[in-house]
Amino acid sequence: MPPTNKAAWLLTYENPSLVVKEAPYTFPSTNQIVVRAHAVSINPVDAAIPFRGAVVFPWLKLPFILGSDISGEIVELGPGVENLKVGDRVVGQCLAWQHNNPVEGAYQEYVVMQQNMVCKIPDEIPYEEAAVLPLCLATAACGLFEKRFLGLEFPSFEPREQGKTVMIWGGSTSVGCNAVQLAVAAGYEVFSTASPKNFEMVKKLGAKMVFDHNSATAVEEIVAALKGKTIAGAYAIGAPTSDRNGFSAGEACLEIVKRSEGRKFAAMAMHGPAELAPEGVEAKFVTGEQFKTNEVGKMIYGEYLPRALKERKFLCMPEAVVVGNGLEKIQEAFEVQKKGVSAKKIVVTL
Ligand SMILES: NC(=O)c1ccc[n+]([C@@H]2O[C@H](COP(=O)([O-])OP(=O)(O)OC[C@H]3O[C@@H](n4cnc5c(N)ncnc54)[C@H](OP(=O)(O)O)[C@@H]3O)[C@@H](O)[C@H]2O)c1
Repeated sequence: MPPTNKAAWLLTYENPSLVVKEAPYTFPSTNQIVVRAHAVSINPVDAAIPFRGAVVFPWLKLPFILGSDISGEIVELGPGVENLKVGDRVVGQCLAWQHNNPVEGAYQEYVVMQQNMVCKIPDEIPYEEAAVLPLCLATAACGLFEKRFLGLEFPSFEPREQGKTVMIWGGSTSVGCNAVQLAVAAGYEVFSTASPKNFEMVKKLGAKMVFDHNSATAVEEIVAALKGKTIAGAYAIGAPTSDRNGFSAGEACLEIVKRSEGRKFAAMAMHGPAELAPEGVEAKFVTGEQFKTNEVGKMIYGEYLPRALKERKFLCMPEAVVVGNGLEKIQEAFEVQKKGVSAKKIVVTL
């Protein structure tokens, strides 16, 4: 008899509050596993879909189970699964909205996942700590390493100095915490931004210099600090609009690469500013949709992350804030996320 399963369902867009009720337990197909979720985290997109999903993800068929980020224990293996076993503790990315398949949504007790989108986590890393990683790690890695974006060298355990600087705007965002660590592990000098209270945290992740992204003079200060250096490009994360201090993250990065020596390319985690790129500067919106099949995903989950977590060379950041336990707490966690976070990831344990 398969176990009973429960999920936090988005039933209709007219009533965007999640409803906890039974869900089918689905057996894994080829190259799939079933994970008993023990912690899930909330990304801005998860909390936005109930309100904007009909516009942003028009292909999603409701009722649906949202959620990308999960950590838990493997309870079943499908045919063809290698190097994983029942009982393994794993962290990984769920692909429900990519596949329009609620069976693969994180916000349920038993989740079907692709074997190549998980990695084992060492016993000393709690589930709630690991759950902060998946979607933002994938977004960071795609923007930095895919050839169509920044195309940087891959991370290594003995990084060779690349002699170039990467500008990561928004180092205290969830995507940014991952991006800073990965770029440093790939041998690049990293300049980043944060609010002053998060400077030390971003430096601890490896950034050489951190600037205040709330300051009207941030761009000028960064351009001055980059004098005499060669940049490998910029990655704009956070601040999708310019209403806070006169420029969005994207606009800031376009200006920085335009006025610095080196690669005049800005990867952008948000839609919009890429279209504003001035002549001589290239910019692209980063999508992580190829991560599940490309070399970057293979490198992260298959090679880099398992060892980096084991050796504590990659930190699960930003810090997890556990809102509560149980699927019923996910709606509350959405509300906390929507109010805004500062260098924190909202997590629910299950
Ligand atoms: N393209 C994709 O596939 C993809 C995937 C994931 C996320 N995203 C997008 O990437 C962005 C970041 O997502 P996230 O989950 O990492 O966000 P997040 O962690 O929820 O963002 C919160 C952070 O924003 C920072 N922030 C405030 N003002 C800023 C500014 N002027 N410039 C830069 N950062 C500022 C804050 O840092 P301080 O508190 O230090 O000020 C805070 O830590 C969002 O717009 C999200 O929608 C895109």
